[in-house]
Amino acid sequence: MSTLVVHESHWGNTRQVAEAIAEGLLAGAAGPVTVVDVGAAPSPLPADVDLLVVGGPTHAFSMSRATTRQDAHRQGAEPGHEAVGIREWLGSLPVGEVRPAVATFDTRVTQVRRLPGSAARAAAKLAGRHHVGEVVDTASFYVDDSPGPLADGELDRARSWGLALASRTR
Ligand SMILES: Cc1cc2nc3c(=O)[nH]c(=O)nc-3n(C[C@H](O)[C@H](O)[C@H](O)COP(=O)(O)O)c2cc1C
Repeated sequence: MSTLVVHESHWGNTRQVAEAIAEGLLAGAAGPVTVVDVGAAPSPLPADVDLLVVGGPTHAFSMSRATTRQDAHRQGAEPGHEAVGIREWLGSLPVGEVRPAVATFDTRVTQVRRLPGSAARAAAKLAGRHHVGEVVDTASFYVDDSPGPLADGELDRARSWGLALASRTR
């Protein structure tokens, strides 16, 4: 089984989570795991991808848009990530050609964790609507503030989530 992990990240927090998830997937012997920034993610999906893990930051209660990515940049995020987010990439995938299992994740701010918005849930809905594949799980990981850092223990939780995904989808 081959896994593709696609991340969108403006300060690097979601990227760290993606890498930790990939470690968990590898520990679960899910086969080769490729981790890629959404700006370089393939469309269409390679034919051998059985599991697609896709994650991004929650922006304005959902997946980012061009305007929120520009806001992140204005707030001091790394340049070069404004052009494309997971919303645009998922929407660009040709319908039904390769149908992997799909798992989505996001990063969100701990203080507003009771608010409903989640990029992971929005990405899961879009993946379902767009027939990317069957959504098997969704998870949120928490940062202390918009630029980060990740809250204590979140990278361990991300590794465990990757491990669990490997065993569920093997
Ligand atoms: C424009 C903008 C809107 C945001 N909206 C939300 C939000 O609705 N809920 C939330 O929990 N965090 C929100 N955040 C915080 C991001 O989730 C946080 O910056 C992100 O998790 C950091 O991950 P990254 O370093 O991978 O970009 C927002 C951040 C920005 C820049």
